[in-house]
Amino acid sequence: MATKTATVEELVAQASEVFEKQFKCKPTLASCGPGRVNLIGEHTDYNDGFVFPMALPQTTVMVGKPTESGICRVLTCAKNVEDPKYVEFSIPTPDNPLTASKPAWANYVKGVVANFIGSLKSFDAVIISSVPVGGGVSSSAALEVATYTFLDQLNPNGPVSLTKKALACQKAEHDFANMPCGIMDQFISLMGKKGHALLIDCRSLESRLVPLKDPNVVVMVTNSNVRHTLTGSEYPSRRKHCEKAAEILGKKSLREATMADVEAFKDEFDEEMLRRIRHVITEIQRTEQAANALEAGDYNKFGKLMVESHNSLRDDYEVSCSELDELVVAAMEVEGVYGSRMTGGGFGGCTVTLLKKSAVDKAIKHIQNRYSGKETFYICPPSDGARIIAL
Ligand code: GLA
Repeated sequence: MATKTATVEELVAQASEVFEKQFKCKPTLASCGPGRVNLIGEHTDYNDGFVFPMALPQTTVMVGKPTESGICRVLTCAKNVEDPKYVEFSIPTPDNPLTASKPAWANYVKGVVANFIGSLKSFDAVIISSVPVGGGVSSSAALEVATYTFLDQLNPNGPVSLTKKALACQKAEHDFANMPCGIMDQFISLMGKKGHALLIDCRSLESRLVPLKDPNVVVMVTNSNVRHTLTGSEYPSRRKHCEKAAEILGKKSLREATMADVEAFKDEFDEEMLRRIRHVITEIQRTEQAANALEAGDYNKFGKLMVESHNSLRDDYEVSCSELDELVVAAMEVEGVYGSRMTGGGFGGCTVTLLKKSAVDKAIKHIQNRYSGKETFYICPPSDGARIIAL
């Protein structure tokens, strides 16, 4: 069976109860920021390419209240994060800037406070989330974006543009979590729209909503529940290789390069580098084609591109793992499945599968039987991005 996801209202109610216990008063403000699943366009955002994610119904909620103390006090209800679950820190000043420290979960909050555009006020807050942590569905961006949206309510100057917020949250992740991520996760968590996926051009930061609300078609996320430790070192090294490749090709980014350009410089690259570049160039093409296919209602073509994307991530970019490959193979054996692929950074986490609604039960049973690990299923209608919640 697919896992049931708590509604935003349920999360707000739970967090408010915890808040009252902890801070002995009722929260006055609330916000939420969703996780995301990327349908196609993997490891293309930091190459100025296209990505095609959608916001998930799984979301992170922050409830709280402004204070006059200058001290921020934050408690998380998340179970699988390192202790302590409660932190305090001062509103930063030029003489007393915020820095990353333990526990790791709090760095996303601190990073956003440090990069917030506008005037800051101290606050007490409780965080709760239905986004699986470590599942490659952007639990970190969800927390950053929920925090930013929460802080917006305390800023008398009014909110800045969603793009500026996304860039501030991305910087928080770079500086406070030491993760040189692209812009996809923060962008979609802020700009997701119910019933739509979003084609984002990571070069111009322009985006196009594409409807995904056919009642007979479902997006299913399958969590492999494995996370290989490689993630930490492999992501930055992939990113560096791409930047180096663009430099050798004399391009600003791999977005500007074609396979013909690569052919002309082929002696400059070893075989591994050639495969990395090929993934990025072909994935950018596939992503644009996939968005057009979805717009035309051509699910078969979309599914085919998803599988090609997975194979390229597995063979050329080498960021998949045996568990994700197993889940994709099993999903593709089921009639009514259009396509399936790993999603997110890789080395564990989730797959995303596009399938007929009528095939969901069969697919879940089949994958359960075939997968050697213990998976979790989520049925995910495309959902709204971050928002303020009136209490
Ligand atoms: C992580 C990063 C994103 C993106 C994906 C891979 O989720 O945060 O910016 O690069 O990996 O597509």
